Amino acid sequence: MDNRPIGVFDSGLGGLTAVRELSRLLPGEDIIYFGDTGRVPYGGRSRQTIIKYARQDANFLSSFELKIILVACGTVSSTALDIVAAESSLPVVGVVRPASQRAAELSRTGRIGLIGTQATIRTGAYERHITTLRPEAELISQPCPLFVPLVENGRFRPGDVVIETVVREYLQPLKDRTVDTLVLGCTHYPLLREVIAAFMGPEVQLVDSGAEGARRTADRLRSMDALADPGRPGACRYYVSDSTEGFAQLASVFLQRDVNEQVQQIEIENFDSGI
Ligand code: DGL
Repeated sequence: MDNRPIGVFDSGLGGLTAVRELSRLLPGEDIIYFGDTGRVPYGGRSRQTIIKYARQDANFLSSFELKIILVACGTVSSTALDIVAAESSLPVVGVVRPASQRAAELSRTGRIGLIGTQATIRTGAYERHITTLRPEAELISQPCPLFVPLVENGRFRPGDVVIETVVREYLQPLKDRTVDTLVLGCTHYPLLREVIAAFMGPEVQLVDSGAEGARRTADRLRSMDALADPGRPGACRYYVSDSTEGFAQLASVFLQRDVNEQVQQIEIENFDSGI
């Protein structure tokens, strides 16, 4: 038994979709969440900048006594997971590997769609993992740079003409290629699930990368025999790099519950290790 918290980070609030699944699976776990709200989005930035930010984010979380870190960000998982893992003394789990595995298992035809940030698509990380598992699979990728700002601004609901127009524009090519499985390769995208599912149709299965990362984290803790005492209520603490104003309201949308816990603003640049 291990009651130390799980650390989770993302470029913004999208990683809370992974926290939601973690809390559902393991309600006894304490979670420390960092959202880099002052610098979101990461997805249009260079590899070097993403690596620098990821190091600072992981350094901040490592200032707590944690048992594992979940990188609940598709952009960081595809760009810098190996670096963060190599420099951390803790086990580090990302979202790309578990989501790739799920997609490879679910797809009947092997025609798999991937949507994510420009940085995620650029790395080719999903192609590598999926074709290792299913060499005949065909991955059709589409960067969706407008999704994160729209989601963070609350424009994700069915009936919203802006998001419905952008979804059509980005996803029509994937629909035309008749993908049967679509990986939501960015942890912000589950908020768009309803709009995306309505556009793609019921025959296309959606893979939620944040939820898959949460499941992989739970499996890892089980295999390490490091789950928290199941009888205790887990608590969440939130840290952000921009103002905390409006956090509870927006976070409650990602978590699908009221957020009454503590949220604190930190200076993330103070956590630079100078590498
Ligand atoms: N949640 C991040 C991801 O999964 C958002 C992307 C961004 O910051 O651009 O990629």
